[in-house]
Amino acid sequence: MKGLNPCGIIIFGASGDLAHIKIFPALYNLWDEGFFPDNFFITGFARTKMDDEQFRKTIYDSMNIYCRKRPIDVKHFKDFSKHINYLSMSYNDIKSYESLKTFTETKSKEYGMPKNLIFYLSTPPSVYQDVVEGLNNSGLASNKEQKDGFSRIVIEKPFGYDYESANELNSDILSAFQERQIYRIDHYLGKETVQNILAFRFANAIFEPVWNNKYIDHIQISALESIGVGSRAGYFDNAGIIRDMMQNHMLQLLSLVAIEPPAIFDADDLSNEKAKLLKSVRRLTINDVRNNVVRGQYDRGTIGDNEEALSYREEKGIPVDSITDTYVALKLYIDNYRWAGVPFYIRSGKRIKEHKTEIAIYFKKLPHSLFGKNSVENLEQNIITITIQPNEGIELKIGAKSPGFKMEIEPVELSFFYKSSFKGTPPEAYERLLYDIMEGDQTLFYRTDNMLISWKLIGDIINGWKSLPAPMFPNYESGSWGPKEADELINKDGRAWHNEI
Ligand code: BG6
Repeated sequence: MKGLNPCGIIIFGASGDLAHIKIFPALYNLWDEGFFPDNFFITGFARTKMDDEQFRKTIYDSMNIYCRKRPIDVKHFKDFSKHINYLSMSYNDIKSYESLKTFTETKSKEYGMPKNLIFYLSTPPSVYQDVVEGLNNSGLASNKEQKDGFSRIVIEKPFGYDYESANELNSDILSAFQERQIYRIDHYLGKETVQNILAFRFANAIFEPVWNNKYIDHIQISALESIGVGSRAGYFDNAGIIRDMMQNHMLQLLSLVAIEPPAIFDADDLSNEKAKLLKSVRRLTINDVRNNVVRGQYDRGTIGDNEEALSYREEKGIPVDSITDTYVALKLYIDNYRWAGVPFYIRSGKRIKEHKTEIAIYFKKLPHSLFGKNSVENLEQNIITITIQPNEGIELKIGAKSPGFKMEIEPVELSFFYKSSFKGTPPEAYERLLYDIMEGDQTLFYRTDNMLISWKLIGDIINGWKSLPAPMFPNYESGSWGPKEADELINKDGRAWHNEI
């Protein structure tokens, strides 16, 4: 990767968890690896009262817990942190933005650099609109072609609560910035293994010809976590897994597995293909929601060998009668030439037995078996498993002759693992995403149309649930594989969830 342009990064919500756990460690790593020029500044903006030194100390402390390069050398950190300042301000007061404007102008002059500004919204969504308005009214934001620098806005998920609120928020942002200035973050797109889905499909001659309904029986996409809701009760209980994971990460994974090859690998072409794909996902009727969507909520249980877990309703800050989903499994169809008739089973849940994110592509069974004892039924299907995390890699299950005098077939794996093939660790998702934002490359971010179509698809489910009887929660034990209804969803089609052992 090449060195970055001089710029000022303004982080709204800088005193919060995301800034401390993800954003600052990523910025530090990019700086440590020499990507930053000498002239850059990072300004934290939040309500909490602190001075520069106190703020830098909170960053240093959290970096020693979360940064992949910990422990952090104090002297080295000082060199980095002299670029960091903190402003304690109010999100809905124009004066705060005017002071910020003066501050950024002074800093740009001090560093002798163009007015290249990145506004990173790492606040709770409830203040997104205030910030956008403040940036707009103070003249900090500019959607005009600027000669003296660029301005970009970065916005975290959740992007809206439903189609209408997402659309409204989007219009607000578009009144201050143009689409090419907006970076909507889905951190899954920054993961190396997620980008590798496209490399696997489009940089190899052998897979693409069989990547369709002639050869593929079905596809499973799973993001399973053993952690519970943790300290995010307030946010999560309003969102549920459906908004927290399905609307964004899972539909993005689905897009990458299923899109047509873009003409060129760039932001526009990729977004065009994703939009085309998402538009081909069959909308769910209320009957589909009843029959093809399973929701769950975790009960008490045991994680691993001996971690006793509370039920969701017993977690701090969760109402005792909450009907928020902590697990969702669903079956979708994509109505286009490539995928007609191929079911996609997608599931995500918290407090599940194993922590793993993977995509499993099941190929069709053979039409005929040559091998005596191995009937067509007991010859295993070819399966490609793309493991996004942990043990990042790709495996292909094939049939091989087992040793001995008989012609008997056993399944074996051909595999590639990141750790062994590419020594060293890949950059973390946030490092890659921040690098691209500074570079002005939107390929790994999602565009307005993609975001709105995703909300429409998820809206069908949320609205369907409103007209169905309230669920009987909790309905799966912590440390299990999820509700038994999720097994039934796939078992009734004569299939089973991948790698449940
Ligand atoms: C976040 C969700 O977007 O992704 C969390 O809000 C979830 O609930 C997390 O735990 C999972 O991300 P990762 O990178 O750990 O798979």
